[in-house]
Amino acid sequence: MMRIDILTLLPTDLSNTFKSSILKRAEKKEKVKISFHNIRDYSKKKHKQVDDYPYGGGSGMVLMVEPIYECIKNLKSERVYDEIIYLTPDAEILNQKTANFLSIKKNIIVLCGHYKGIDQRIRDHLITREISIGDFVLSGGELAAAVFCDCIIRLIPGVLGDESSALTDSFQDNLISPPIYTRPAVFRSWKVPEVLLNGDKNEIENWRENKSIEITSKIRPDLLNK
Ligand code: ADE
Repeated sequence: MMRIDILTLLPTDLSNTFKSSILKRAEKKEKVKISFHNIRDYSKKKHKQVDDYPYGGGSGMVLMVEPIYECIKNLKSERVYDEIIYLTPDAEILNQKTANFLSIKKNIIVLCGHYKGIDQRIRDHLITREISIGDFVLSGGELAAAVFCDCIIRLIPGVLGDESSALTDSFQDNLISPPIYTRPAVFRSWKVPEVLLNGDKNEIENWRENKSIEITSKIRPDLLNK
């Protein structure tokens, strides 16, 4: 079973996301255990303060080192972590290869950023890997954490059944999946490609592969050069 500890200032925001869909099924099957930790609970300051003004001036508040340090220290005293991940837009972009790599880990910590950022010393001394979910900025790391966890958890062996196997996902082989169809064969004048109806397995396989390459070169040529 994989264990994911999520550090956030808004634990309730996220826990609802995990009550539905695949994540719930994965927890029921005991493939994953997700624990939320409120960073504020680890503040030693009056009024449970967790952020402060940036040294040198500037706008926005900065998440302080201590509460995050204390939370991570507490978790590390209970088990060994494979990765301590910080979700932030200024990082390596998440892709399927990284997701596959992380999906077989045992214990990971996911830190959601907030406000303007976090004290750099957290990144320098506590974080083992920084990941962005794309070249755009969200107002907090919580939605990024939901995306990240969904992407990883569905890859954990046994989470998806054969019928929805992750092996045929787009990107799994750096190609976008071919188009798929179901009945009826003709709707209005819109036809399903003939090759899919005649049942020749090799021909269908070839058609799908060619379509994948055609679509990938058209909309994501960068994938073909990987
Ligand atoms: N936090 C804010 N924006 C983000 C992004 N694009 N990826 C990961 N974490 C984020």
